[in-house]
Amino acid sequence: MRGLFITFEGIDKSGKTTQARLLMDFLRQSGREALLTQQPGGSPLCAEIWGVIRNHRHFGQMAPLTELMLFAADRAQHVREVILPALGGRKAVVCDRYTDSTVAYQGYGRGLDLDIISRLNDTATEGLTPDLTFFIDIPVEEAFRRGLGRTADRMEMEQAAFYERVREGYLRIAASDPDRVAVFDGCEPMDRISEELRAVVSVRMKDGR
Ligand SMILES: Nc1ncnc2c1ncn2[C@@H]1O[C@H](COP(=O)(O)OP(=O)(O)OP(=O)(O)O)[C@@H](O)[C@H]1O
Ligand SMILES: [Mg+2]
Repeated sequence: MRGLFITFEGIDKSGKTTQARLLMDFLRQSGREALLTQQPGGSPLCAEIWGVIRNHRHFGQMAPLTELMLFAADRAQHVREVILPALGGRKAVVCDRYTDSTVAYQGYGRGLDLDIISRLNDTATEGLTPDLTFFIDIPVEEAFRRGLGRTADRMEMEQAAFYERVREGYLRIAASDPDRVAVFDGCEPMDRISEELRAVVSVRMKDGR
């Protein structure tokens, strides 16, 4: 049996990286071999693809479909090169963003066709679905309070209305797939969220994973 595959999702600044790191501490303390990785940019080749996507010089230039295909390219490479080998070696894999990000940002945010995105995600991941997804939800105003948009990153140069659509997209994904997606209030204190998250993972590990 392969290792447990956990993903973190949410709008920018929701606390994904913070919680992914805290979860890694917990997994390692529990004596499990675990890998923390991310999409996009989770290997040297992926980092080059991500560099093209995020380059602020392309603001207003990059066609939405180009962006979608580049994220798919990053994902295909990362699943093949990093995630599948680790899971095959029975490691737990924690991935900071995965397919739901593309549904939320390129689908709900940019308005690209959800069926095309779904097929592209299936192809890029070779059908690999997370065992658990933690969606950390914060209001868009809170993301801006935490510094969203203060860097010269093309993906962070969008207006509030864009992030509202992305957040709404995440809420719909969570509602449509409650067995996989657990929702957390990202405005709660970090430690509290982490405890709640650990409880969910512990139950899953008791099931034999
Ligand atoms: N529960 C929380 N309450 C208040 N602030 C938090 C909380 N969790 C994280 N933060 C702070 O919010 C900021 C963003 O956190 P973090 O980098 O973990 O978010 P992220 O979702 O990974 O962001 P990005 O999408 O930009 O990678 C950091 O300054 C972090 O310390
Ligand atoms: Mg992060």
